[in-house]
Amino acid sequence: MDLNIVCIPGDGIGPEIVTEAKKVLEKVGSVYGHNMKFTDVLMGGASIDVHGIPLTDETIATAKAADAVLMGSIGGDTNTSPWYKLPPEKRPEAGLLKIRKSLNLFANLRPAILYPELRGACPLKEEISEKGFDMLIMRELTGGLYFGERKTVEENGQKKAIDTLTYSESEIRRIAIKGFEIAMKRRKKVTSVDKANVLDSSRLWRAIVNEVAKDYPEVTVEHMLVDNCAMQLVRDPSQFDVVLTENMFGDILSDEASMVTGSIGMLASASLNDTKFGLYEPSHGSAPDIAGKDLANPIATVLSASMMLRYSFDLDKEADAIDRAVDKVLKDGYRTGDIMSEGCTKVGCRQMGDLLAERIN
Ligand code: IPM
Ligand code: MG
Repeated sequence: MDLNIVCIPGDGIGPEIVTEAKKVLEKVGSVYGHNMKFTDVLMGGASIDVHGIPLTDETIATAKAADAVLMGSIGGDTNTSPWYKLPPEKRPEAGLLKIRKSLNLFANLRPAILYPELRGACPLKEEISEKGFDMLIMRELTGGLYFGERKTVEENGQKKAIDTLTYSESEIRRIAIKGFEIAMKRRKKVTSVDKANVLDSSRLWRAIVNEVAKDYPEVTVEHMLVDNCAMQLVRDPSQFDVVLTENMFGDILSDEASMVTGSIGMLASASLNDTKFGLYEPSHGSAPDIAGKDLANPIATVLSASMMLRYSFDLDKEADAIDRAVDKVLKDGYRTGDIMSEGCTKVGCRQMGDLLAERIN
């Protein structure tokens, strides 16, 4: 099969981790007989440095023409990087929001898994972590506060800032369907998270989720308020299977969920539209402090490549081979600095990529 993949190495550790993911994909290609075609494009700070803007129309067109997009990370140090002296719409993150919207990537899947080998890194008490957990946050990605009208006005001699939170029935329905569909392939439980005790958008969210739930009688559905959910994530993360939520809540809860795994360097994500097309990226950021030092953990990006094979190309066997290689490398005791523990062998980003590629069979 020909796989036409656009890569966005991006900023910070992005280029290093994407290089390792490509290495692993190449190996998958040679073992399973696929032809990987990679096209690199610029986004974020890297694009600002060349074009003055974080995402060009040409890049969007190139991404649209591909089968899938594999991204590293974008952005720099917000305190020191010159990119953050630019107006908000020209900063690196604006590129990310624009590509999500332009490609209609409304469904963001963020798995948060406690790897048995990394249980020691979990910051929760042992009596909580020993149960393990494996949840998937299904975050709405192209609506809500992120894309509502916003402005700053002057009123009675003082500035006033306005952000609007809007959701339509169809926006809620399509993400809810994605959530229930994926729950059917997992443990068949959906926790829909909202703030229905305060927000109209949440009350509509809840009503539509209940409507969609009728089509999935096998799936258990529960509704949880977002503040309670934030608390439950540290009290007993094992209760969650699919967490279905809107854009802003999903942004916050997914950081919390990844932190309780203790290994954010391991967590992949997928952003999907209504077709097989998707953008795949690690859940972590660009870590400018360790960029270019061969210290980054490429596993989250490698696992994002696995999600890409599974969701955009239906290559489940090949995706399984990547997931197995990750398990194997951990069992063999290799660790990058972020997940290092006593008795293990510490390796850099490049060597981790080599070790993973070697284990593809
Ligand atoms: C994320 C990030 C982005 C978001 C930022 C960089 C705009 O935090 O992907 O979670 O808020 O969506
Ligand atoms: Mg975030």
